[in-house]
Amino acid sequence: MERTLVLLKPDAVQRGLVGPILARFEQKGLKLVGLKLRQFPKATLEQHYSVHKERPFFRSLVEFMGSGPVVALALEGKNAIAVVRKLMGKTNSAEAEPGTIRGDYGMSFSNNLVHGSDGPESAATELKLFFGGADELVSWTPAESTWIYAPEELG
Ligand code: RTP
Ligand code: MG
Repeated sequence: MERTLVLLKPDAVQRGLVGPILARFEQKGLKLVGLKLRQFPKATLEQHYSVHKERPFFRSLVEFMGSGPVVALALEGKNAIAVVRKLMGKTNSAEAEPGTIRGDYGMSFSNNLVHGSDGPESAATELKLFFGGADELVSWTPAESTWIYAPEELG
């Protein structure tokens, strides 16, 4: 099992899309193991997007992410990182496939509703950044878990 960090960006919160987007992850079979709503400090957001710090859009990206509340999710599942990225769709919402979150709800490159970790290393770093406190992530067994995966897939 793998864990990944998802952020529902300020545009998703302002547009009342927290419920519909969260529902997609739940309906897919990803397990919610962490959830919080915060207006995150600039320092946290700068650290989160530090790989982009030399890019021309870095300042506006950090400003946008700090402009309102963000919902942070920790999701768990088999290949959760790749599964989440696929559900999100291409970075530019205008080009994202219908059926994806960005493809169904967005028109913008920068206001693209969701963030998802792009690999195991970034997932570990980002989960620590957003859910680093004690007991912020919860291990639990959903009642439906034996129906989401075949026994051999659960290992
Ligand atoms: P994210 O990190 O937010 O999950 O998105 P991503 O992997 O699909 O895209 P990435 O290349 O990591 O870019 C991070 C975020 O920066 C904004 N961006 N704006 N105006 C631009 O050229 C530009 N390029 C990137 C987007 O909000 C993107 O999600
Ligand atoms: Mg990225």
